[in-house]
Order: sequence, then C-alpha cells, then structure tokens
Amino acid sequence: MESKVNPLEKKVIFVALLVSAVHLALIAYAAVGLNISVPDCVTDREVFTQADFIKHSERRFEVHLIAKMWAFEPHTIRLPVGSTLDIFATSMDVTHGIHIAGTNVNVMAVPSVVSQAQVQFDRPGKYSLVCHEYCGVGHQEMLGVIEIDPTITEPEVIGLAPGSSASSLDLAQFDKYPGKKVLEAKACIACHSLDGSAMVGPTFLNIWGRREEMADGTFITVDEEYIREAISDPQKKVVKGYQVPMPMMPLTQDELNEVIELLKVLKD
Ligand code: CUA
Repeated sequence: MESKVNPLEKKVIFVALLVSAVHLALIAYAAVGLNISVPDCVTDREVFTQADFIKHSERRFEVHLIAKMWAFEPHTIRLPVGSTLDIFATSMDVTHGIHIAGTNVNVMAVPSVVSQAQVQFDRPGKYSLVCHEYCGVGHQEMLGVIEIDPTITEPEVIGLAPGSSASSLDLAQFDKYPGKKVLEAKACIACHSLDGSAMVGPTFLNIWGRREEMADGTFITVDEEYIREAISDPQKKVVKGYQVPMPMMPLTQDELNEVIELLKVLKD
C-alpha cells in the first residue's frame, strides 16, 4: 500500500530544513566572516592573588583582573585604539561575572580558578565592565570601565594595589600629614582606598579637583566645599555607582581641616 505524504507536511519539513540551514550558515558566518570567537573561559593557569597589568607591546596588553565584593581591581583601564587585551580573571570571595559591554566578553570570575578572554578594541569609546552574577548587596555597584582613547599612546590603569608592577605609589610619603591618621582612626580607609584600588567607596587618590558624576546625573568638582558637605551629610550628594550608604562621620573642625590638607596633595 502506498503511503501518501500530506503536501502541507512536505512544506513544514522544507521550512524546518531551511531554517536549520540558515541557522548553521549564520554560525559559520559569525565564526569565519565576523571572526567572533567563543572565549575559552576556564584555564588551568595558576591562580593569582594580586591584580596586575602587563604591557607586551605597543598594542598588546594583559590584565590580571580581580573581582571581589564589590569592585574590580583594577577598575579603570585606558588603552590606545587598536589595543588587544588579554584578560585573566579570578575572584577573591564569591562567584562574580564579568561582562564588557559592546564586546563578546562574558566570563565568570570564580574563586581558585582563572578565567580567560581576549578582546580587541578597534573603536574609541567607553566600554563598561559589569558584574553579571548576583554577588550580594553591593552587586549593582560592581562596575569598571575600559576606555579606548584616541588621544593616548601609553596605557593608564587605575585601581591596582601598590606592589603590583604597574603601581609605584609610595603612601609612606603622606605619613607627615595628620589627616592620614584621622582617616585611619575613623576607619574611612575601610571603604575609601588611598592608593587608587577599588573599594566600596570612591578612592581618595587624585580626588582633589576630580570631576564626578552624581547619582542624580549632575556633575560636581571635588573641592573643599564638597568634601565638607560629603563628610557632614553623606547622603546629600552620592557619586554615581556608589550606592552603599556612608555613615555620618563626626569629625572635629580640626580633623576635617587635616583630612582636607591630605586630600589636596594625595596624588600619584
Ligand atoms: Cu560581583 Cu555581582
């Protein structure tokens, strides 16, 4: 007995095969034509505990990125146009995610494991670095940026702890300022680093005269007035990206003046 195929069924099979063929063709086009590679996330490299930045050539760089609650170290990398960046990432605490907006970099940062990705930046712009894995109350503040800047020839890396090969800041030179003792005694440095490394609050390094975008979208320049206000009324104006509430800091007028004297000179 001859079995008859319903003509409608034939059409369905044809369409299904066509869709599959287009799908495979697009994958092949992405891989060969657009040169999109899937990052080979997890490596068997030895895990590192210190963030670092290495220059291999004029346009080839390597970053050892540390993710921790709730910051990336380093948090800002400025590179010339056309730079290729090899990213090796790990976590110091819980599992974090690393996504670089506008690129195909999307890896996990897992404790005791080194993930890897590579990206070439041919277009100038600001590529934000975001944590895409929920990691606690500060998760949405966990941000960084890679700036591709056509005006620079040498890379700039902000937020590396002292001791890494890219940082030469010696904080001991600021010991003569009494404000340093005030910051230590009041535990300000538990949330604000002095050396540019990323913490819960903005770093104090190079803060004087810095232009900051506030959470409400306005811009301020960090000056004496702003520092006085930020310490006496921390919630009034919060720097964008830092939503962890800062406690009230009861400093005496003398202590406040000492802190301001230090912040004026704390530059690398
Ligand atoms: Cu780290 Cu979310």
